[in-house]
Order: sequence, then structure tokens, then C-alpha cells
Amino acid sequence: MSGTLVVALIAAAGVVAFVGIGFLLWYCLFHRRSISRTSETNSSDPSVQAGGNVELTLPGGGSYPSGSQGARSFVLDELNLATKNFSSINLIGYGKFGEVYKGLLQDGMIVAIKSRQAAPSREFTDEVRILSSIRHRNLVSLLGYCQEKDLQMLIYEYIPNGSVSSHLYGTSQMSSEKLEFKHRLSIAHGAAKGLAHLHGFDPPLVHRNFKTGNVLVDEDFIPKVADAGLRNLMERIGGSSSTSQPMADDVFLDPEVKQSGSFCAKSDVYSFGVFLLELVSGRDARSDQSLITKAQNYQDPGTISSVVDPRMGSSFTTEGMKEFLRLVFWCLNTTAERRPPMSFVVSELNRIHDKEISLTTVMGEGTPTVTLGSQLFTAAK
Ligand SMILES: *[C@@H]1O[C@H](CO)[C@@H](O)[C@H](O)[C@H]1NC(C)=O
Ligand SMILES: *[C@@H]1O[C@H](CO)[C@@H](O)[C@H](O)[C@H]1NC(C)=O
Ligand SMILES: *[C@@H]1O[C@H](CO)[C@@H](O)[C@H](O)[C@H]1NC(C)=O
Ligand SMILES: *[C@@H]1O[C@H](CO)[C@@H](O)[C@H](O)[C@H]1NC(C)=O
Repeated sequence: MSGTLVVALIAAAGVVAFVGIGFLLWYCLFHRRSISRTSETNSSDPSVQAGGNVELTLPGGGSYPSGSQGARSFVLDELNLATKNFSSINLIGYGKFGEVYKGLLQDGMIVAIKSRQAAPSREFTDEVRILSSIRHRNLVSLLGYCQEKDLQMLIYEYIPNGSVSSHLYGTSQMSSEKLEFKHRLSIAHGAAKGLAHLHGFDPPLVHRNFKTGNVLVDEDFIPKVADAGLRNLMERIGGSSSTSQPMADDVFLDPEVKQSGSFCAKSDVYSFGVFLLELVSGRDARSDQSLITKAQNYQDPGTISSVVDPRMGSSFTTEGMKEFLRLVFWCLNTTAERRPPMSFVVSELNRIHDKEISLTTVMGEGTPTVTLGSQLFTAAK
């Protein structure tokens, strides 16, 4: 009798222990998975996830996040194969650095290759190593470089769905798409996080060429800021005479920089304000310079109808739009120190976005779960 009881107790204890260990394992796995899913940097290194605390000294200091993928050195043969010998079919654009080609690597990865003619230099590889170590969900990753036969190349991940400007006012058919205010807010929020990540380094990495054409979107409409650090890199390696001039398209350029010639993190905030204005108006600020002055009257209801993209219809709340325009106006203050820091812009956009979602959902408006870019609302935060 007592023998059976002991056996039963031992068995019960075994079951409890088994279930307990199982639960513990499940908890660890689940917890880990949720960490990696919310991670901005796709890294399990907590110092990298913390964003602003990454150990990185720029420019040119030798320290960057440990455990990062680092820069890969590509050989020319590999890139010839990827681009069919840099065939014109694969030429997808011209940037400040040089021609841009699309390439398919042997492992199936699609890349964008920026190529220019220049003598090999040590500064180039040093700088690429630092920039390659910066990884963030909302930044286009620099994968590596190639220096051969008097060619310097930068190899980036390829972002398939083009720039936000091509979706807003480009010549392609993409510009006829209807992007609701909520989607535009998600794009703004993502791009802001990318820029804020750069500003979180010590010293801040100032983009210096932020514009709507440099915000790319992937197939899920996740925004990725392109060309981070490229201007610094080009200044260090020299070469093209145009690098001594401010590279930002003029309308995006902080008026203080036009006078002093020197950039700071708040110069990017001004450029970001112009981006927000283009995003909400669907217009190209280069050809409609009155946009910026119009935004200054953001409190006037007439401004909303004259600035806001008519393609949005009535898919937004007046309150949310006013708050958005107030933020835009703030970013566009002519005095740099009056502009908010990017970290604030991120939280403000997040707040406006969440509020807009809850208000438009409560009112039963639209069909927020089946439209373009809807994946963002479950994945972006
Ligand atoms: C993110 O992590 C996954 C799993 O480790 C990996 O397969 C993927 O290539 C990573 N993506 C980037 C952009 O690093
Ligand atoms: C690329 O060039 C190499 C050497 O010139 C040649 O052997 C190869 O066939 C070319 N490949 C293509 C796809 O044109
Ligand atoms: C991305 O581009 C592809 C090809 O142009 C298109 O078929 C797809 O619908 C686009 N995705 C989004 C979310 O716009
Ligand atoms: C800049 O911000 C200050 C303080 O908020 C405000 O008084 C001023 O009118 C703003 N100037 C411009 C040009 O936006």
C-alpha cells in the first residue's frame, strides 16, 4: 500500500518536474522570440538593441559594435557575375557616389552596387567597416565593399519597392496609389526611427542628405533610410569636386547650413520636416516652394485643405492632422536649436499614429486591416 503510494508520489513529482521544466523552456524560447521580433537591429546583443548606447566612435574612430556582421570584402569577379559584367540592363540609377547597379549574388541575395572610378585607399575600407556595422530595421544596410582595378564599390542590400517620392509624385504608375494618412504616419514614424538611430551615436552621425528620395520602402512598405554616412565617407576619401558642396537638394537644406555651411543633428530635423510635408501633401517641395510657407499657418483650417493630399479623401481626423502639421512646423523652424530632437519626433509621431488608429477605428471608418502596408501596424513597433 505505502509502496504504491511512494511510487505514485515519485511519479507525480516526476510529472510536475517535467511540466515545470517544459514550461520554463517554453517561456525562455517564447521570451527570446519576442525579444528578437521587437528588436530594431535584428541582433541579440543587448547593447546593439539599446540603440543610443552602441559603442561606436565616428568618424574614423576604431570602435564599433562587437559581434556585428562587419564589412564583407567582395571580389570583382563575383560582382561581374552578379551584374552580367555591369550590363546597362542592370543600371538602376546615378547617385553622388557613382553609377548604381542591381545585382544577384550567387547565394540568391539581391544587392545594389554603387560604383565609381578611384584609386584604392585605406580610408575607404576603414570608413566602410564603420558604416557596415550600423544595422537598423529602418536603415538600408551597407554590406561591404570592393576595391579592384581602380574601382571603388559599395554594396548595399537592395530595397525592392523604390523611394517614397516615387510613390508620392513619381512618374511611375505607383504615384496613383492611395496611401491613407495612417500609412503615411507609419512611414514617417519608421523613417524617424532610422534617423534617430543615427543621431543616437556619440557623436551623432548626421545624415546630411536626408530627402524623400532617400527613404526607400520594402515590399511590406517598411521605410529604410538610404545613404547614411555616405557624405562623411565621400568627404574622407575625397575625389568628386561636388563633395565640398552641400549635397542635400536645396529645398531640404537647413537655412542655417546655407549660411554657415556646417551641419548638425538639427539640420537633419529640418530636412525631415520637409519630408513630412511632402508625405502629407503628396507634392514635390522642389517644384512647390509655397508648401513650406503654407505649413506655417497650420492652425488655420484652410491650410489643411490647401496642404493635405486630396488623394487621402477623408481618411483622417482633423485633430490628428493638426497635430501632425504642428510637428512639421516645429521641425521647420528656421532656428536650429528651436527644432525638436529626432527622439522627440519619433515619440510624437508614434503618439499621433496610435491616436489616429484608435479614433478612426472607434468611428468604424474605412477598412484598416486590408489596405496597403497594413502589415506595418502589427510589425512596426
Ligand atoms: C536577421 O536574423 C535572421 C535570423 O538570425 C537572419 O536570417 C537574417 O538574415 C537577419 N537579417 C538581417 C538583415 O540581418
Ligand atoms: C563577362 O566577361 C567575361 C570576361 O570578359 C566573359 O567571359 C563572360 O562571358 C561575360 N559574362 C557575361 C554574362 O556577359
Ligand atoms: C512592390 O513592388 C512590386 C513590384 O513593383 C509590386 O508588385 C508590389 O505590389 C509592391 N508592393 C507594395 C506593398 O507596394
Ligand atoms: C521658432 O520657434 C519659436 C519658439 O517656439 C517661435 O517663437 C518662432 O515663431 C519659430 N519661428 C519660426 C520661423 O518658425
